[in-house]
Amino acid sequence: MNVNQDKAPSDAPVIWITGASQGIGEAVAIAMAREGMVVAASARNVERLEALANQSTGLKGSIIPYPLDVTDQTAVNKTVHKIIENHGGIDQAILNAGTYISAPATGFTSDAVRQQVELNLMGVCHCLEPLIAFMTKRGQGTIAINASLAGYRGLPRAAGYGATKAALINMAESLNSELSDVGIDIKIINPGFVKTPLTSKNQFPMPFLMEVDKAAQVIVKGMKGRSFEIRFPRIFAAILGLLRRLPYPLYFWLIRKAG
Ligand SMILES: NC(=O)c1ccc[n+]([C@@H]2O[C@H](COP(=O)([O-])OP(=O)(O)OC[C@H]3O[C@@H](n4cnc5c(N)ncnc54)[C@H](OP(=O)(O)O)[C@@H]3O)[C@@H](O)[C@H]2O)c1
Repeated sequence: MNVNQDKAPSDAPVIWITGASQGIGEAVAIAMAREGMVVAASARNVERLEALANQSTGLKGSIIPYPLDVTDQTAVNKTVHKIIENHGGIDQAILNAGTYISAPATGFTSDAVRQQVELNLMGVCHCLEPLIAFMTKRGQGTIAINASLAGYRGLPRAAGYGATKAALINMAESLNSELSDVGIDIKIINPGFVKTPLTSKNQFPMPFLMEVDKAAQVIVKGMKGRSFEIRFPRIFAAILGLLRRLPYPLYFWLIRKAG
């Protein structure tokens, strides 16, 4: 069955989530469906999206798979138009698809950076283009971009990843300041470490590692709130927020000491 074809527009709010086949995106999709939303779920893995859609059976809302590679602008445009056509619009979006390639500075490669730029940064831009066009015409909508606390300052092993996340934070600040006038609320999500398939590959200690369902709850609450930034876990976010303000000599001394 092609689930995409079978959905008539309903009154329930529609949220589009990218990177929904596992990890944070999957947990948020389920939490949003519990809240009664129609969740358009995108990622490349069709089987996982269909399994996710089945998990929404019996929930107040629903999850509909929209398989997609966000690095392809044409495919993204088509998907956004399809969701709008099938469900009567998109009220909210969480642009969450992303990856982390562990890259020690001594083995620096431009290719690792390029892969992360293509997915983490350009993947988000590809989604923003049709979303901003649609929401501007409509005069309303909420778009949250999943960056990371790693975007606050340069951290070890994250030259490429951190650069993409810092760029997203900067971009969201810029868009927020302009788009609030046309009724679009741009938010940034800055998680610390969350237990997902992505972080399960990490060989280094992950302070304040958070369960994915807890992270999803914080994101659901944040999407309803008025704050620009949704960040967690609270203590780790506060520590990194403090590090962000330190002068360079003190910052580098602390980072080297932390190993
Ligand atoms: N976990 C953490 O500790 C943490 C902390 C800070 C920020 N974040 C950010 O949170 C987001 C989600 O992280 P996660 O830990 O949940 O990662 P994850 O478990 O690896 O999930 C990543 C998701 O992105 C999708 N994806 C990857 N490439 C894609 C593409 N080209 N097109 C469409 N979808 C694609 C994957 O699905 P397919 O493979 O099926 O496409 C998957 O659903 C990322 O942006 C990450 O940087 C995570």
